[in-house]
Amino acid sequence: MSTHKTRLAIFCSGSGSNFQAIFRALKKKQLNAEIVLCLSNRVECGAMEFARLNAIATVHLTEKQFDSLDDFAAAMLGSLTEQRIDIIVLAGYMRKVPDAVVTAFQDRIINIHPALLPKFGGEGMYGIYVHAAVLEAGETESGATVHLVNEEYDKGRILMQRHVPVLPDDTPETLAERVLACEHILYPDALEKILAEQQS
Ligand code: GRF
Repeated sequence: MSTHKTRLAIFCSGSGSNFQAIFRALKKKQLNAEIVLCLSNRVECGAMEFARLNAIATVHLTEKQFDSLDDFAAAMLGSLTEQRIDIIVLAGYMRKVPDAVVTAFQDRIINIHPALLPKFGGEGMYGIYVHAAVLEAGETESGATVHLVNEEYDKGRILMQRHVPVLPDDTPETLAERVLACEHILYPDALEKILAEQQS
């Protein structure tokens, strides 16, 4: 068994509730990993605030800070290399990860999506739009999916899923709440599985 503590970078754009769930689970489950970097396209958001409060290094990076996408990708790779990151965890990161980073971190970037992929994924399927589409389609269940990230939105290999019922009186908002609660269990479980496989 490896003694190396897996070094995680969390990429976020919003409240960071999945980030917080993972942070707590790492301690509670005594997993051999630590979150050493929070990268965000927004300097002020719940996730960045949580990172600062918990003495986790933060990096604010947006495409707008650079002349080209290549420079943006190079800066992102620089931060990841500097922190010796092993795995990138996307937790509500509302930007596409540059292809150069996906290539450099092949099979080492994971994402959570608030539906049962391959249904209700792809470009434009994010946030409340996902839950509205699930209700519109008359589904009786939804859930969340943890998957590997490749160059195409929501198309990487599925690693783990968790289901929740869709209730007759659901609105997109009530369904979103139920799915988010399920994500907070699923993401730490999936990470635990990945770490166990990687470290065995
Ligand atoms: C989650 O619903 C996740 O599935 C999606 O973005 C949301 C992030 O929420 N990718 P939070 O920032 O973790 O609260």
